[in-house]
This record gives sequence, structure tokens and C-alpha cells, in this order.
Amino acid sequence: MAFPARFLDELRDRTALSDVVGRRVRLVKKGREHSGLCPFHKEKTPSFTVNDDKGFYHCFGCGAHGSAFDFVMETEGLSFRETVEKLAADVGMQVPEDSPEERQRAERKKTLYDVVEAACQYFEQQLSLPGGQQALKYLRDRGLSDQTIGKFRLGFSPDRRDALAGALGTQGHNKDELVAAGLIIKRDDGSTYDRFHGRVMFPILDRRGRVVAFGGRVLGSDKDVAKYLNSPETDLFHKGHLLYALDTAQVAARAGQALVVTEGYMDVIALYQAGFEGAVAPLGTALTEEQILELWKIMPEPVLCFDGDNAGARAATRAAVRALPLLRAGVGLRFAALPSGEDPDSLVQKQGSQAFQALLDAAKPLSQVLWEMEQAQGPTDTPEGRAGLQKRLDDHVRRIEDATVRNHFQSTFKDRVWKLGRAEGPQRAQGGWKTQGGRGFKPSKPQVFGAEDGRKAAQSSRLDLSAVREEILLAALITHPELFDEVGEKLGSLAFSTVALDKLRQEALKTLAKDASLDSEAFQRHLRGCGYAEILDSLLSPRVFGHAFFARLTEPFNTALAGWNETYELYCRRDLEAELREAERRLAADMTAENFERFKALKIQEQTAQQRNVK
Ligand code: UTP
Ligand code: MN
Repeated sequence: MAFPARFLDELRDRTALSDVVGRRVRLVKKGREHSGLCPFHKEKTPSFTVNDDKGFYHCFGCGAHGSAFDFVMETEGLSFRETVEKLAADVGMQVPEDSPEERQRAERKKTLYDVVEAACQYFEQQLSLPGGQQALKYLRDRGLSDQTIGKFRLGFSPDRRDALAGALGTQGHNKDELVAAGLIIKRDDGSTYDRFHGRVMFPILDRRGRVVAFGGRVLGSDKDVAKYLNSPETDLFHKGHLLYALDTAQVAARAGQALVVTEGYMDVIALYQAGFEGAVAPLGTALTEEQILELWKIMPEPVLCFDGDNAGARAATRAAVRALPLLRAGVGLRFAALPSGEDPDSLVQKQGSQAFQALLDAAKPLSQVLWEMEQAQGPTDTPEGRAGLQKRLDDHVRRIEDATVRNHFQSTFKDRVWKLGRAEGPQRAQGGWKTQGGRGFKPSKPQVFGAEDGRKAAQSSRLDLSAVREEILLAALITHPELFDEVGEKLGSLAFSTVALDKLRQEALKTLAKDASLDSEAFQRHLRGCGYAEILDSLLSPRVFGHAFFARLTEPFNTALAGWNETYELYCRRDLEAELREAERRLAADMTAENFERFKALKIQEQTAQQRNVK
């Protein structure tokens, strides 16, 4: 690989960096420098500069920095050698001949690429043969379309010990090559056997889309063998540097999709199929520093997905801490937490893309993850507690090497700890100490629906208010089905924030659309018969009627209609954004399916509202 230094110097001298960059970026000359929109991150105003004299480009937005060689390697995905050859050809320079050893090494590598590519084709073929039927069925049962299977070149390794060597042998590849490619294993006595057998095969491609390795999964769940087996490190495959599906994801991310890091191959594939083409995964290890740097080359703020459980939180924290020394101005990480027990694959299969989009939208920046993690480490309602928190945060901040980023983290955390101190008074009055005789702290929020004596102040949030309004809108309709003509259309355009209530809303509308002459009793009987008995009991109760007198069965039509319309107005005028923030906070504090559902529904409502506004 070594080029003579003199040759490289001359090539550098003869190459005008602004020409090389100018082929990809529209540059404007300003004094001694050129500037333009950075090709390494998305931006609207130019912060990318090129200095021909120094032979370097630099982006003040994302920190990308390098020479003409770097630029070509980065933007075209070429190796150093390929880059040199290309640039030399551009300026008409002859590349010096390799030494025989170098030529041999390059040959060997080329052979390895051919070997793994041939293996990939072999595995793909097996999937379509009778022996691969079970594997194909397995993949289809996991929800993958044939198109997706083809796109990711999934395959099957037959459950034999010598299948691959036999098949590739006929193509002229000898066993030593297969050993070097990590595909077969040599025993001490010289005999060999296939590394992968009886597994679904996931080829691992490099940035340029060349197959370099494989992951293999057992069919189903055999507890006795490793679920996934991966190729070992080879001349082609360096686990810590590459990410699964990086070739596809980098294109999608540069075209504006989110760059999402998941834990598994199946997550990447399921997300791709659900429309998230910027998904990648590490290759059986935790995310490495090299991988984080690799991600930042593609976009400044990738999103890391972790399980909503404790193990997931720990993994997220580890990744956050690992990234600290690497942070530079303009780059960061976001963290999305999945509901516990789900991975991205299971989530999109069960709940669709919108659910996953909602998670991405709620992803938290790295600073927030650190803050929450440290805040959870101990009490902060005393000066001592807050000093401890400050110290733990400082320890993290100190690990940030970039001075600008470090200063910002420092001042943000200081501010927040300070605010905790100021919030201390009222919080304590509200929570810990019991006040006697009704004196002391009272929530000052307006209580639109009158006094809610029985309910805790903490519960009377905006979120609950609009949830109660949803209940009222339904209760009044159930007690007054004759409202349907007036309110049916309005109710039909809403989406309620829990699945159960929204199903009832739909069932009620469907029923009355068929027969609007039902009286309340018959209507209730029908709904109870459809499995809504429990909800009905909870809706048609003093709890709800206490908020909305007009919804009682005994109230006349006009009263019910006026009340319904007024509630509808209030419900529509609510502050969706604030509710969303609150739902998000709840979800973060307590990752239950219910909280997730509420959050997701609000997110969808927000999207619908936005679409309405656009029209
Ligand atoms: P998971 O166990 O979360 O698997 O491992 P998954 O991706 O959800 O797999 P499915 O859905 O059951 O098919 C996450 C990743 O960890 C690595 C693999 O890269 C896997 O995708 N892994 C897991 C291994 O390398 N070996 C194993 O035995 C298990
Ligand atoms: Mn999974």
C-alpha cells in the first residue's frame, strides 16, 4: 500500500482541492478561500470552506476536516489506494508500480471479496430450493416480503457440515480461501467444516455495498445454540468499524431520512420495510467509538434506540458516556426509548410506522439522558443532594474534550440544578408535608369542571382534562343517541387518546349511522353486547356526570346538545402541544404500554391537526 512520499507530495501539489470539491459542491470564492454548503451534513447557509493554499477543507458546522484525499475517500467511499489512483489519473500522473508483495496482498483481498460474494449468492440460492423452504417460511412468517428478502440478500445455509466448500470448490475457490474469509473452520487435523449451517443468513455489506461477512440466525428458538453467529474478523471485516446496512442507510440519511441505530439485524430490516431506510445496527457488539464517528460523517444527530427496560437504560447511558469525549460542535446523539419488551421490529410489526415515528420524534438529546440518569441517582430536594448531582454532572462534563461543547453542557447543567433549588419550596408544600385545616399550598390551576375534591391535585393535569372531555363527549351521546344527527360528523373527525375509548367512539358512530332511531337503553344494550360493558359502567357514572351535568340521562335534548357542543369546543381548543409534552414526560418517567399508547395517540392527533392546518 505504501506510495513513495515524493510521489504523494507531488500529487498533492498538482491537485487543486477546490477543483476536487467543486465537482460535488457549488463553491463561491471569497478572498483566499472558497465556501459552499457542507456535503457532510444538512445545512441551509454555507459553513464549509476550502483553502487551496493549505490544501484543507473545514466545516464550521459539523467539524468535517481533511485533504483532497480525505474528501474523495469520504464522498465516494473509495479506499486510499483507489483515491490516489483516481486523483493521479485526473492530473495525468503515473502511479508507481507496487512491490510484488503488495500486489500479492491486493490480489488476496480481491479473491476474498469474490469468495464471500460467491458464498452470498450460494446462500441466496439455497433459500429458493426445497431445502430452504423452512427458512423462507420463517422469514415470511416474521413479516418480510419477498422484495425485502431480496433487497437484503437474505439466504440459507443448509444443515450440513461441508456444503459450502463443495459448492464453492466447483467455482475454483480453495479451502484456504474459505478459511481466510471466515466461512469454514479448520480443525487441528486439517479437516474443515462450515461455520454456518442450518441458519438464515444475513450478509453484511461494507459502505460500498460489497459483501464482507455474514450473520446467521437459527430458525426459531433453540436454547442450546447461539441465536446469532457472526463471521470472525477477517482482512475484509472489522466489526467495530462497520455497521449493518450502512450502505443503504447512508444514502437514505443523506436524502433526509433519520439515521437510526438499532440493536439487531431484524430490526434494521423490519424498519426498512416500514419505510425507515436509515436504520443500521452494530454487528453483535456494543456501539463503538469508531462507529459513532462513522455515523457523524453521515449526519450530525443520529438516533440510538434502546429498550425501555433497565438494561436498555444502562446501555443508553453507556453509549452516552462513551460519546462524550467525541462530541464536537454541531454533532450529537439522540436517544429513543422503546416500550419495555419491544424492539423496533416487534413495534412496527404490531403497531405500524406511526408508532415508531412517534418514538423518533420524542427522542431525547444526549444532555437530557445524562441529566435524567444523574437526577435519578439520588434526592435533589436538599442543597446537599443538589451538590451531589452537580458533582456527578461535572464528572461527565469534564470528559468532553471540545471546549465549546463542554462550556455549553456545563452552563446548561448548572442552570438546571439551580432551578431545582428554586422549585424546592412549592414542591415540598405540595407533596411531603401534610397541611392541616386546608391551609398551605393549593394548586392555582383553574378547575374548569368544578372542584375535584376526591382527586389528587397531581392528577388534574391538562392530559386528564382532555381525557375527561373525551369521556363526556361519549357519555352524552350514549345517554342521548338522538344527538347523532347534530354531532356525528364532529365526533367522527376526532381520534381519542386511548385505544379503548377510541374503539368505543367508532363503534358508537357505526351503530348510530346504521340506526339513528335507537333509544339510549337499546344503544347501551348493543354496546354492552359488543364488549364495552366495563367502559360503559365507568363512563355513565357520577365521576363523569359530576363534570357534566348535561350528560345525565334525565336532561333534555337541548341541554345535552348545548353541553356537548361546548365541551367539543373546549376539547378542540386544547393545547395539544402541552399535552404532548406532558404525555412524553409521563412516558419517560414510567414506560408503560398505557402511557405509550396515550403518547402515540396524541402524536397522531398532532399530525392530523398539522395536516389540517396545511390544507
Ligand atoms: P437480540 O437478541 O435482541 O436479537 O440481539 P434480535 O435482533 O431481536 O433478533 P430476533 O428478532 O430474535 O431475530 C440483537 C443483536 O445482537 C447480536 C445480533 O447482532 C443481534 O441482531 N447477537 C444476538 C449475537 O451476535 N449473538 C446472539 O446469540 C444474539
Ligand atoms: Mn427482535
